[in-house]
Amino acid sequence: MELFTKTLCLCLVLILTDAVPLDQGAPAAQDGDASLPNRCDGIEFDAITPDEKGIVFFFKGAHLWKGFQGPAQLSNELFQELDDIHNIGHVDAAFRMHNEENPDDHDHIYFFLDDKVFSYYNHKLEAGYPKDIQEDFPGVPSHLDAAVECPKRECPADSVIFFKGHDIHVYDITTKTVKTKSWPQLPACTSAFRWLEHYYCFHGHNFTRFNPVSGEVNGTYPKDARDYFMSCPGFGHGGHYQPPKCSEMKLDAMTTDDTGRNYMFAGPIYMRLDERRNGLHAFPITRMWKELTNGVDAVFSYSDRIYMIKDDQVYIYKTAAHYTLVEGYPKTLKEELGIEGHVDAAFLCNTYNINHTVHVIQGRKVLSVDLTATPRTTTQEIPIPLSEIDAAHCNEHGIDLFKGSEYYHYQTFKLLSTFKIAPLPQKITSSMMGCRDD
Ligand SMILES: *[C@@H]1O[C@H](CO)[C@@H](O)[C@H](O)[C@H]1NC(C)=O
Ligand SMILES: *[C@@H]1O[C@H](CO)[C@@H](O)[C@H](O)[C@H]1NC(C)=O
Ligand SMILES: *[C@@H]1O[C@H](CO)[C@@H](O)[C@H](O)[C@H]1NC(C)=O
Repeated sequence: MELFTKTLCLCLVLILTDAVPLDQGAPAAQDGDASLPNRCDGIEFDAITPDEKGIVFFFKGAHLWKGFQGPAQLSNELFQELDDIHNIGHVDAAFRMHNEENPDDHDHIYFFLDDKVFSYYNHKLEAGYPKDIQEDFPGVPSHLDAAVECPKRECPADSVIFFKGHDIHVYDITTKTVKTKSWPQLPACTSAFRWLEHYYCFHGHNFTRFNPVSGEVNGTYPKDARDYFMSCPGFGHGGHYQPPKCSEMKLDAMTTDDTGRNYMFAGPIYMRLDERRNGLHAFPITRMWKELTNGVDAVFSYSDRIYMIKDDQVYIYKTAAHYTLVEGYPKTLKEELGIEGHVDAAFLCNTYNINHTVHVIQGRKVLSVDLTATPRTTTQEIPIPLSEIDAAHCNEHGIDLFKGSEYYHYQTFKLLSTFKIAPLPQKITSSMMGCRDD
């Protein structure tokens, strides 16, 4: 099934409030060479950034750690010139550029050392670097403490947030202008990191999650980084969500919204399947859709909305950086879609052109509902040779109907509506859903 790429690091998992990478069986290989620093001792990092592949690097002095597990190594083994040219022995700050309008810079890692900036792509220093910081980032001071990117949907514009002491310098990538702020709720950050659309300020061996627009801190912080961002013996207990075995998998719903975010829902959790390059992680559904305290039966996306069905209620959320419940919702299934009874799954195929027909699976039948008609009525009802479908999803490769730990693939809706015999089921794998292989 092509929808799921084959590359994936299946070492990470789920959590309840912050993302907790969880070691899946590999030994926590932190120690080993005693001459190397051990991040489980409680380290204050100089910089943290993902690279273009989503691998997260933690920097301290002349060393770095690659990913959430494993021992330290010398930084100049991977980013040679950092040490060669400058000989400073540490980076002040680093971030991964998010600038889709400028593919020449997008996904490059920027390192800041004293008054210089280095740009790397694919672990190679770009021509012309290092430069003076102000040549690339006019108005941004030298000797920074931390930096983190903030893409447009999460900040008002594609930006980089720089930290120096208690000053925050928000740099607008397009206009090349800087606004200086102070965020009294945040301690002085020695490194900052965006991960899975959340923003973390690291200070000492602790971290604090913050809002990248207001600097607001919500929840109980600081937290110890060793409980969440690395795998350390004796840390990270509590709050872990153990992913089910693939053979025991049971989805409730799957959808891809108009911004390309691909979600799966199972019980109280959801997972972003398109963010695989940052690992697969589960979060409570209520963290994103706070009204859905009992999970979902079916979900589909239409235009800039996501429709979530639970029992006889339909919740419609507007898609943006955050999902907001549309006023007047939830409404009943009857009111919103003109149907009654339990919904097993729903999907809408918008791959090649805008389609206004949602397909709702109830038992052994698929109902088609035209979302432009008022009142909504079922335009078509077809029988399927399957029942008890848990979830359905449509993309450019076709339609998948999920049932327990298996799924049925149809290339087109026409085949789904004409086949009298179900195709052979295929097994859900760990690379698809982050479940555990048996
Ligand atoms: C880390 O946070 C804890 C509270 O969670 C606090 O007691 C401790 O002093 C902090 N340590 C450092 C080094 O910031
Ligand atoms: C922080 O929490 C308060 C109270 O729950 C809420 O009103 C506010 O929107 C939250 N702010 C952010 C940035 O999440
Ligand atoms: C929408 O999709 C349905 C089946 O999925 C199909 O019958 C219909 O022709 C499509 N409409 C458009 C406008 O493509």
